[in-house]
Amino acid sequence: MERTLIIIKPEGVQRGLIGQILARFEQRGLKFVGLKMLQMSPALAEEHYAVHKGKPFYTGLVKHITSGPVVVGVVEGRGAIKMVRTMMGATNAAEAAPGTIRGDFALEIGYNIIHGSDGPETAAREISLFFKPEELLDYRLAS
Ligand code: CMP
Repeated sequence: MERTLIIIKPEGVQRGLIGQILARFEQRGLKFVGLKMLQMSPALAEEHYAVHKGKPFYTGLVKHITSGPVVVGVVEGRGAIKMVRTMMGATNAAEAAPGTIRGDFALEIGYNIIHGSDGPETAAREISLFFKPEELLDYRLAS
């Protein structure tokens, strides 16, 4: 079954949106197989966002993502990577459709509430940055 990583960013935690965001994925039928709250170190943030190194927004991105607690989760389900990205909406929150997480809760690209892995390789890499294999649980949801 496909797995992907989500991060509820510091502004999502600050605004009390953790429950609402997690509920959307649960309601859709996706399953959390790992979930934790932490404050990212600069080293972890730099590794997570390594692909953006050198871009004009990189320094601000690392500073912001390390500025307070985040919630990281591993979401499992058929087609989970694409499903989560569809539910998040466009990266630039100003262009995100209403009904999506960013479209309902955010206005700015730099404060777009949530991160989700953008493909299978990225998902595997990002999950391994935040979770040890034994922290990912194998269980069935009641149907
Ligand atoms: P995310 O999905 O976490 O992946 C990288 C993040 O960089 C992205 O969400 C945005 O929050 C941020 N980002 C991307 N482009 C810009 C930009 N042009 N200006 C500021 N932040 C950006």
